[in-house]
Amino acid sequence: MKIITPHYIMLRDRVVTNLSVAFDKKIQKIAPFEELIEEFEGAEVTTLREHSLLMPGLINAHVHIEFSGNKTELSYGDFLNWLYSVIENRADLINECGLECMAEAIGKMLANGITTFGAISSHAMDLEACEKAKQNVVFFNELVGSQATMADALFSDFLARVDASKTVKREGFYPAVAIHSPYSVHPILVKKAVEIAKNENLKLTAHFMESIAEREWLDEDKGDFKEFFEKLLSQDQSVNSAEEFLSYFEGSDALLTHVTNANKNEIATIAKNNYTVIHCPISNRLLGNPTLNIKELNENKIRWIVATDGLSSNYDLDLFEEMKISLFMHSSAPLLEFAQALLDGVTVHAAEALGLNTGVIEEGKNADMIVVDLEAEPTAELPIHLILHRYNISKVFINGKIEKGAL
Ligand code: BEZ
Ligand code: FE2
Repeated sequence: MKIITPHYIMLRDRVVTNLSVAFDKKIQKIAPFEELIEEFEGAEVTTLREHSLLMPGLINAHVHIEFSGNKTELSYGDFLNWLYSVIENRADLINECGLECMAEAIGKMLANGITTFGAISSHAMDLEACEKAKQNVVFFNELVGSQATMADALFSDFLARVDASKTVKREGFYPAVAIHSPYSVHPILVKKAVEIAKNENLKLTAHFMESIAEREWLDEDKGDFKEFFEKLLSQDQSVNSAEEFLSYFEGSDALLTHVTNANKNEIATIAKNNYTVIHCPISNRLLGNPTLNIKELNENKIRWIVATDGLSSNYDLDLFEEMKISLFMHSSAPLLEFAQALLDGVTVHAAEALGLNTGVIEEGKNADMIVVDLEAEPTAELPIHLILHRYNISKVFINGKIEKGAL
């Protein structure tokens, strides 16, 4: 057992002081130090510096580890140009980012206080790096392919990757399923993969309504995707409509990434089915996509969380930076309320969306916690200060083990 005494603890709905946390893999008890040391005699004791804040470890539900090699190779500003640049550079990016490069990206997330991430894995090149990661990992094996003639081959490759991820038996590693998007996956494949996820209780995710091009292609078989599909895949029609695509996920608690172009009916469907929306503001800005309408999500009581996307559409894997950018992009949102919602979107709400027993400092939760070195006593505006000042993160605990800093 360990007992930690920070200056402040961020609980679900308030910040407290003069309390300590006793934990092993899980948070066992939050109480005054004297009470804990009496109950857990012989526990390893750590007392932290003035103004230290213990808060939940951050959760990055959507990142592409395999594309961590990109810095300047991909074209930004327009979604289709970016996609063409991904296709052109895919082999180089992936081959040039081996285990060390992927481990570096994962290490960067750890240093930034990310204790859980959702890895969207296109090729399973990141399986070993994710197996070796210190963090909890939801490993989303991604299925992509819109051509019926390729369906069998693509599905068996997908199944082999799902099976390989199931052989990873370490604590905090969860095999899962990603469907690339409505425009890129044949409905037969979507249905088969969703069925597997439902039968085996695996988490499900998909990119959905990321670009204007996607909207135009799915609705009217026109727009920037027309030339793309005609030239590269000899298709003149979309394989799914948006509504059909959403209906395949019914009963699954799926996580949908981007959703920057959803119409009223799709928003209603997302609300009705309790899907979660993953907000990746930096990626959306860099790829020339619209800004997520968070007000509309709130009005429809849709849970939304915050993620970085991969280094293929970001310059860092830092949820504090991501929250800051979102705070400034949503310039009409009430500042304090929105800052708190962003923090919830990288902690408690992200844990709920991924179905993980983490994201809150509370008895019985997994001991995924970070220590943030504040510089003064927190005020009611702490959420704003945390987002603006990017305080030093001096310790990171994952399932009770110290993974950054020392005891
Ligand atoms: C496809 O396989 O159909 C596809 C893959 C990536 C982007 C677009 C389409
Ligand atoms: Fe993505």
